Amino acid sequence: MPNLAIVGYGKMGRLIDQLAHEYGFTVTARIDVDRNESLQGADVAVEFSVPSSVAGNVAKIAALGIPIVVGTTGWLEHLDEVKAIVGKNDTALVWSPNFSIGVNVFTRLVTEAARLFQNEKEYGAWAWEIHHVTKKDAPSGTLLKLVEQMRASGFNRAIDASCNRAGTHPGTHEIGFDSAADTITLRHTARNREGFARGALKAAQWIIGRKGCYEFSDVLFGG
Ligand SMILES: NC(=O)c1ccc[n+]([C@@H]2O[C@H](COP(=O)([O-])OP(=O)(O)OC[C@H]3O[C@@H](n4cnc5c(N)ncnc54)[C@H](OP(=O)(O)O)[C@@H]3O)[C@@H](O)[C@H]2O)c1
Repeated sequence: MPNLAIVGYGKMGRLIDQLAHEYGFTVTARIDVDRNESLQGADVAVEFSVPSSVAGNVAKIAALGIPIVVGTTGWLEHLDEVKAIVGKNDTALVWSPNFSIGVNVFTRLVTEAARLFQNEKEYGAWAWEIHHVTKKDAPSGTLLKLVEQMRASGFNRAIDASCNRAGTHPGTHEIGFDSAADTITLRHTARNREGFARGALKAAQWIIGRKGCYEFSDVLFGG
């Protein structure tokens, strides 16, 4: 059974710990601010911590040649630095602001809708999300990714983006297109965090034995 290190032992880290055995992993390290177990012997690490810790955590894990799954959001200004660290240590990374399979399919649907609407100038677009009050980044990495993908597919008009933080909501993302004639609303609603944890564990199985940097969409749909 491959050994799994869990880096960041908050809500996501604990859930990954509960589900890891279903994916054939033995959890050999649980690391958090006040918990420091050895990474030695880990075959793969899953990182769900805080944005300011990602680059440092990746440097420590990559220095041991351990492949890494990063689920933390809000750190993408360090993406080039993180990719360079992974390359220098000849190891591997899968990152995603959202490890839900549903959200990754949803992103493809949104991208296709944006492509189809790119020349239909009477249609305006919006992007919106809501999450629990303890989420540290806003707007979510997933919303930023959705807007980026819409742009990449050729939708060059304004996309009015907004977000809310309230209660314990695990995450809803909505993309809409509106004209005088009609409205299309595309919405993904997470029921709980389990889908994110299961996707990260699937990515952890996939990254063992690979080199280089990947997104979760590579795991699901191929490179
Ligand atoms: N990609 C996805 O699918 C997905 C899904 C859900 C959440 N997320 C993201 O994953 C991250 C964690 O979410 P969460 O809900 O688990 O948050 P959380 O409950 O706040 O857990 C984060 C944990 O990381 C700890 N931590 C802080 N600095 C650390 C360090 N240097 N090394 C190791 N651990 C450290 C925190 O400790 P302290 O509390 O002491 O600071 C806390 O226990 C967030 O960025 C969130 O947006 C991503």
